[in-house]
Amino acid sequence: MRHTIPILALLISITCSTTFSIDAVRQSKLPPFSCGSSSTPPTRPYPFCDAGLPVRERARDLISRLTLDEKISQLVNKAAAVPRLGVPYYQWWSEALHGVAVATGVENGVSFDGIVEAATSFPQVILTASTFDADLWYRIAKVIGTEARAIYNEGQAKGLTFWSPNINIFRDPRWGRGQETPGEDPLLTAKYATSFVRGLQGDSFEGGALKDGHLQVSACCKHFTAYDLDRWEGYNRFTFNAQVTKQDMADTYQPPFKGCIEEGKASGIMCAYNLVNGVPNCADHDLLTKTARGEWGFEGYITSDCDAVSLLFHQQHYAKSDEEAVADVLKAGMDVNCGSYLGNYTKSAVLKGTVSVSDIDRALENLFSVRMRLGLFSGPPSGAYGKLGRADVCAPEHQELALEAARQGIVLLKNERNLLPLTRAGKGSLVVIGPNANVSKTLLGNYAGPPCRTITPLQGLMSYVEDVKFEQGCDTVNCSSVDVKRAVELAKSADRVVLVMGLNQEREKEDLDREDLVLPGKQQSLIMSVAKAAKKPVVLLLLCGGPVDVSFAKNEAKIGSILWAGYPGQAGGRAVAEIIFGDYNPGGRLTMTWYPQDFIKIPMTDMRMRADPSSGYPGRTYRFYKGEKVFEFGYGLSYTTYSYKIVSVSQSKFDLKASSSASDLGYVAVQELGLGSCDKAKFSVIVSIENEGEMAGKHPVLLFLRCAQSGSGDGPMKQLVGFQTVRTDAKEKVSVEFAVSPCEHFSRANEDGEMVIESGDASLVVGDEEHPINISI
Ligand SMILES: *[C@@H]1O[C@H](CO)[C@@H](O)[C@H](O)[C@H]1NC(C)=O
Ligand SMILES: *[C@@H]1O[C@H](CO)[C@@H](O)[C@H](O)[C@H]1NC(C)=O
Ligand SMILES: *[C@@H]1O[C@H](CO)[C@@H](O)[C@H](O)[C@H]1NC(C)=O
Repeated sequence: MRHTIPILALLISITCSTTFSIDAVRQSKLPPFSCGSSSTPPTRPYPFCDAGLPVRERARDLISRLTLDEKISQLVNKAAAVPRLGVPYYQWWSEALHGVAVATGVENGVSFDGIVEAATSFPQVILTASTFDADLWYRIAKVIGTEARAIYNEGQAKGLTFWSPNINIFRDPRWGRGQETPGEDPLLTAKYATSFVRGLQGDSFEGGALKDGHLQVSACCKHFTAYDLDRWEGYNRFTFNAQVTKQDMADTYQPPFKGCIEEGKASGIMCAYNLVNGVPNCADHDLLTKTARGEWGFEGYITSDCDAVSLLFHQQHYAKSDEEAVADVLKAGMDVNCGSYLGNYTKSAVLKGTVSVSDIDRALENLFSVRMRLGLFSGPPSGAYGKLGRADVCAPEHQELALEAARQGIVLLKNERNLLPLTRAGKGSLVVIGPNANVSKTLLGNYAGPPCRTITPLQGLMSYVEDVKFEQGCDTVNCSSVDVKRAVELAKSADRVVLVMGLNQEREKEDLDREDLVLPGKQQSLIMSVAKAAKKPVVLLLLCGGPVDVSFAKNEAKIGSILWAGYPGQAGGRAVAEIIFGDYNPGGRLTMTWYPQDFIKIPMTDMRMRADPSSGYPGRTYRFYKGEKVFEFGYGLSYTTYSYKIVSVSQSKFDLKASSSASDLGYVAVQELGLGSCDKAKFSVIVSIENEGEMAGKHPVLLFLRCAQSGSGDGPMKQLVGFQTVRTDAKEKVSVEFAVSPCEHFSRANEDGEMVIESGDASLVVGDEEHPINISI
């Protein structure tokens, strides 16, 4: 047992006080759990300590024992202790995007200042997503949750609620936080959300009641909703009013959240800063209460993004007073405020009558229910979660998984004349050039904690070749000054040149969107000078989250290979080197469109997904974008070649008649079809995959629907139906089966936001293979 903290020194003196000093309670010696058998004061006889009762009943019992001031002290992320009831201080805010993390400059739940000084740092999410491997996502999240529990058990966490994953659609390539997301596709993002939440939470929660276990830790799907602009030109996320059509809302922005809640059973949601169609997300009753809790059955707590509530009055001018802002969010269904605003103004809101105590109790019930589901009101941690500790953080198998994720995510974008893999035994030295070659911090991306260790690309390459010469070339990633002469001299001297270029957190991050899509400063001219001077074609390795327009490199014969490694995490340099030297066969596929630079003529503020030919608006993402692409969604090469064949399709003709009148719009509403017809329409597709080359490999197989366009023509051109990863030996042939549900996979939204299926000829597509299908209504 790891909790041997003596239970002493309760700050009884503050029980009668009406205000709480957070500092005082933080220093209290309360154990980090309630309801222990030897706890002082003894609270075990109270129903809230009775694990045999339903969680909500226990939460209500606890709430009934609190004074108004104590209640109000629970509505902020730094929830005060209530020593007279044995309730310790609780910090709602912790981060775990791709490893247990800390947000800089603020107090988080987790600190790395004790015997745990680091945690496993997985690749940034955009890279992990390109594995298209839902089981890998689950395993990663499970490890993150395990490390989080272990850190908590070691006394270095003041909460178990982690504000991850970020599942907003990567709508615009300039978005500084696109790196945190799984990309631009709603189905993929929903599946990522589901896997991540289940892994993190430990999958022990079923249907609202605490079963035989506790949540491992609590996950939080953010940012709800249509949040994907941070700071661009004169706009910022705090006041941006996203204009979103019902159609785009239904088939692009909401599906990840729906999946996260319905399938993933997330126990947390964060409402976003921005407004949608004039309503701040955290004050939107339709969104938080009607949709999330009502339609999707959400059982958990809703937090604001940090300081979002004060914006309602002070910046968005939506509420007319502080008290009205408090009322707006509590009545909309938000439960806890990241920040101090609700702590400051809820009392006066009650006194002025804008909120009632029952509004507060409603929120507290959600909050305490989650703490109880985490096992924090069941005495000292026991069972499997209670045993975790320091040895479970940065465990060798966790670090191996971080390496595995980087290997599997890295995408090979170009490989002319099989320049890659390089031969290890090659004569002559290896020259490595670039500002991203040896900066360990850059491997991590944002929302990272201290990693267990790091291996940069330079260090990885040096483990393969003895004679490595390195030159940064650019002064920094911004590359305002460059030493072309020295780089060119080096390049001339070697047979093998690897350029390590791209972006870092100075170019794309939270609160910073990009202004363009090209490589910063003089990076491109350095790359071209080196490539032209080199004896043989060079390798270009890109570290960046969002896409860059590298058309110049795609078209340049002296740049033989391009690899994209996202921000590959603590072991990223090892993975990169294994791929470059052929110890691993790359198989990652892009989860977002790489647009050309001229895409930036579209304002980032335009939320429309669908193209509008009359105004020249090209649309967004592979589903709707009609312009030129540098690389497309799903693109990625390997060192072998795979061929695909659609072997069988159990149903190719779908007669989907609605029970009521058939639509003359050319489509039928899914809801009108009913469950029976939807079930009857389900079918399976068997695809065979042949590895025609000389190297074994693992890669994802993507099944798309090329859509019927007989109706209004505002459906997607193509949409992802499913994905599965396969591992094949050289020359091996395997097959995989996809279960397809037309109601789910063939549907898109109409202008009213209803999901509909369009009639007409469509086809199933995998690789170059197409199989025609027909839908009649
Ligand atoms: C709440 O009150 C404290 C103490 O007066 C102050 O420091 C803090 O800025 C206030 N918070 C907000 C969001 O108004
Ligand atoms: C790479 O970075 C590490 C850590 O900062 C440093 O120790 C090492 O000397 C660097 N390697 C080269 C070749 O500059
Ligand atoms: C690099 O450029 C970014 C974006 O223009 C800027 O915010 C940052 O301060 C620059 N960094 C340096 C070191 O010049």
